[in-house]
Amino acid sequence: MSTDIDPRFAAALPEQVDSGEPFRTAKAFRRAWFGQEHGGQALFFLFSKNLSVTNVQFAELLSLLRLHTYERRTQERAKALHFVTSSEFDRLFVEMIEPFEKHGDELRQIVGPLYSDIFSRTVVVDPRYGSCNVFLPPSLIANMAAMAGQAGYIHSCGYLVFIRNVVKADPGLLFTNLHKHLLRYPPSTDKKLRFFVYADEDFTKEDRSEASRLRAGLDDVKIHVEKAWFRTQRLVDVIGTLKEQMPDLVFGAGRGFRADHDTQIGQDDIDRARTLWLIQDHGIGNPPEQRGVDRYYVCYDQLFYAQNAVHLFDENKPAWHDHTTLPPSLAGSLVNIIRTPERHEASLSIVDPFAGTGTSLLEVIRLPKAKFTGFDNDPGTERLIYDNLQFFDQPREGLIHIHRQLLDAKQELLFALDENPAAIGGTRALSLARQVFRTEDVVGQASVLDGLPSPRDEDLPNDLAERILVYVAMRTSKRHSARFSRAAETSDIDWCDAYLAELETLNAQIARLIELRDRQELDAAATESYLRGLGYFDDSSKQLAMFFDDYSMGVMPRAQAVQVDRMLQESDPKREFELYVGSERGDARGLPAATYDVVIGDPPYGFNTVAEASDLAKLYSEFARAALLSLRDGGDLVLCLPERSHSGRYSPAFTHRALVLQQLFLVAGEEELQLVFPRNSVRGAEHLFDADYYWESQRALRRSVLHVQVRFKAPRSDNGDGSMPQLASTSLTH
Ligand SMILES: C[S@@+](CC[C@H](N)C(=O)[O-])C[C@H]1O[C@@H](n2cnc3c(N)ncnc32)[C@H](O)[C@@H]1O
Repeated sequence: MSTDIDPRFAAALPEQVDSGEPFRTAKAFRRAWFGQEHGGQALFFLFSKNLSVTNVQFAELLSLLRLHTYERRTQERAKALHFVTSSEFDRLFVEMIEPFEKHGDELRQIVGPLYSDIFSRTVVVDPRYGSCNVFLPPSLIANMAAMAGQAGYIHSCGYLVFIRNVVKADPGLLFTNLHKHLLRYPPSTDKKLRFFVYADEDFTKEDRSEASRLRAGLDDVKIHVEKAWFRTQRLVDVIGTLKEQMPDLVFGAGRGFRADHDTQIGQDDIDRARTLWLIQDHGIGNPPEQRGVDRYYVCYDQLFYAQNAVHLFDENKPAWHDHTTLPPSLAGSLVNIIRTPERHEASLSIVDPFAGTGTSLLEVIRLPKAKFTGFDNDPGTERLIYDNLQFFDQPREGLIHIHRQLLDAKQELLFALDENPAAIGGTRALSLARQVFRTEDVVGQASVLDGLPSPRDEDLPNDLAERILVYVAMRTSKRHSARFSRAAETSDIDWCDAYLAELETLNAQIARLIELRDRQELDAAATESYLRGLGYFDDSSKQLAMFFDDYSMGVMPRAQAVQVDRMLQESDPKREFELYVGSERGDARGLPAATYDVVIGDPPYGFNTVAEASDLAKLYSEFARAALLSLRDGGDLVLCLPERSHSGRYSPAFTHRALVLQQLFLVAGEEELQLVFPRNSVRGAEHLFDADYYWESQRALRRSVLHVQVRFKAPRSDNGDGSMPQLASTSLTH
């Protein structure tokens, strides 16, 4: 216990305990301690996916809070944070004061010195279906920009202004809270703040091009404003009164939304760094995948919007050869859950034994001191990984070049389809695909295309844009093969239609990436001064790109554009990247012993592979051993596994969590290793924050994310034969 008592703690403590209703005293203390009066802060994090998809966003949030929460006084990273829910906090308080109730007005003198330290690092997290409230005591401050900039699942964040169960919603409380909030955080001089209701009526028609991204996330927090009430008043009338009472706010929804909205964005008298939103969220049901019955109105002041170049593409990265990629936001989130403040400072060695198209690599490169090693037994994956890296490394002009090339290919095909179907085969897109796949039947014949091998490196065109055209041909054949088989007769025209649709989807994503690159980034000095204005700035902020987005500051990881050339310099001893591909060299079972801090990835799921079931079962069993032994003491194993297929596809049990865990326990027993399941210990939140995590895709499958840590029972520093683990050097020649 430190002798340094936070005077605010003593001041927030009640003078007397209401012994008849100690929980009322606790609640009053919580409100005072985390409220404005003493300098506490209420933060709000909106997730891009809700609990119907996954629960990993909560573990990610805690991990990011541990990394980016500071002591206000020293600006040093806060240590040993303790997370509880509101109701748990109240119970903690009641239990703490109980022994001293009789001391009456001496409570402050007794409890103050005893528990100031504990309460100064106790953070309240209240999870909801698609968001989370975080209450920080006056002693702490969180770098929300860094959190949003690194996250897989944070959509946006800022200050919580108001939250109330809809059945208890009181306009008076909303007005009071808004008023207090604006006194504490006034808009920049001479600027007005926007207040938007996130109205289904206003936004849903406009945002359908983003529909797949908004499903099970943002769509769910919209309010049907024309049907919504604050008890006896219609929401539209509440907003009407608010307009009259708060002339300094600019209203963008409720009445005349669209006209207002279009004229407001970008106007000089508007504070473009923030927007006040009124949204709704749900409570958590049982199981948590289901919404609870309670609904809440939430008003928050959005300060940061999380942007991410890779996540824009979802599972549609330009270099692609099969359906089996990890969703990039999930990969981002998994990379965050293994980060700890200690590791953040040190260099981390991370291996993905099934690197595929490089999804995890694209997430690891944003970590300043991490080294990545990828294995894959398919030799074709090397080219895919480099092409994805190179694509995300493109300057604006490079992206525009690719975009134009894809547009040209589209026009050429459209022209052929309209004017001269016989000429389709001669179009650039198709002749390239034929050349690479060495078949006359690239179009039309689903059966031929279904079993396409990875394109051979030497057959691929030299130009990245042209290679992307080939990858689009690949995904056309693979993604639509059932559709082609279903048709009575598949013609070139069907294939071309599907190809055009794929081309269009990818090119629309590339266009969005170009828009993102076009945002005027704040320079380092402006970023620093903006964040200092909010109360904190640290080294991790230097890795953020910050810019004015539509409704607040946009943040994204700066290091996502990597210098591929630098990564390829084998002579550079500080190379952060190694790749081992090919049937022997890239076999995941060949991971060297005691080498990595983290093993992260997803093994092949074995859908529809009854014929090779025994090979795959062997791979799972042997890989379990190799993966555990490849870790250093204290290392993390994070595996994404199929749990259940929703489409009727066969999914062998040995790929599922239960059997994989058994394999791991077996190896641990034999090898004198201890397996530890990291727990986030948010009391009162019923393991919502703990592994195993789930990830649901409604149409395809449920994944399970296993997370275990390895502890050595006895020191082991070598391969068991006396030699230190070593990898043969890689030879990359691109
Ligand atoms: C489910 S995919 C991983 C996809 C990857 N996470 C991505 O996002 O692109 C499985 C990968 O494991 C590879 N693979 C299969 N058997 C392997 C083995 N024995 N050793 C290494 N890689 C293997 C496949 O080539 C495939 O790329």
